[in-house]
Amino acid sequence: MRNLNEDTITQAVLARHANATDARLKTVMTSLVQHLHEFAREVKLTEEEWVAGIEFLTAVGHITDDKRQEFILLSDTLGLSTLVTAMNHRKPDACTEATVFGPFFVEGAPGYELGDDIANGAKGDPCFVRGTVRGVDGTPIGGAVMEVWQADAEGFYDVQYAGDEAHRGRGRIISAPDGSFHFRSILAEAYPIPHDGPVGRMLSALGRHPWRPAHLHFMIKAEGYETLVTHVFRDGDQYLDSDAVFGVRSSLIAQWVRHEPGPTPDGGASSQPFYTLDFDFVLNPAA
Ligand code: BEZ
Ligand code: FE
Repeated sequence: MRNLNEDTITQAVLARHANATDARLKTVMTSLVQHLHEFAREVKLTEEEWVAGIEFLTAVGHITDDKRQEFILLSDTLGLSTLVTAMNHRKPDACTEATVFGPFFVEGAPGYELGDDIANGAKGDPCFVRGTVRGVDGTPIGGAVMEVWQADAEGFYDVQYAGDEAHRGRGRIISAPDGSFHFRSILAEAYPIPHDGPVGRMLSALGRHPWRPAHLHFMIKAEGYETLVTHVFRDGDQYLDSDAVFGVRSSLIAQWVRHEPGPTPDGGASSQPFYTLDFDFVLNPAA
């Protein structure tokens, strides 16, 4: 194939996929090439803009390592993560909705007993979290593995502190046979997503802020049920309607109730104000 021009180049690329043996790969790449070329035609992409795009993606790659996932940030801030989550987790209204995973989950976080403090020294006002895990028909789900993770009062996840491998504000608990769970942690606060890299520069060039409303992350796995990846968002947060990563669902907003110093739900006492959060999860049966 020679002498390709702007009218013939797209079909020429697609013709090269003729021998692809993976049918799904062929479908995905065919569509990707068509949309990519159409995008370039639609905006009449200049050579300078093409170079800027290449430099931007190069910077996204350079800043990415096992602690900093700029590609996920890019996907999140462009709404792609929310689109993919929504398409892949359609479920009955009674189920707890899923939302974005985010880049701060850590495999192998410590396991805790019910009632333990998962803050493990993370800074923040004390918070007591409790609720149940059930199926759509109300069946209690005991033995559900609940991964929980959150940022501290400074707006940072433990993994964002360089040179410090301690797990703070994250842990794994298992629901009781009656489906109930409870643990102690710290108050969730709003925080900006990492914005000192190319994605942050993109946001500011677009006149966008990097803030996420206060939230607590959960990933809940139970045999016979679809894994639920979600957050609980704090009611009243100023960023609920402008989340930098488009993750907020009304059904996931809950009250963190403030209490004056005094007796705490775990039978102890707090000399400082503390919070309680009650939230019940409903899992979808596995397909
Ligand atoms: C998070 O909630 O941890 C998060 C989600 C998307 C981008 C950055 C952070
Ligand atoms: Fe988060």
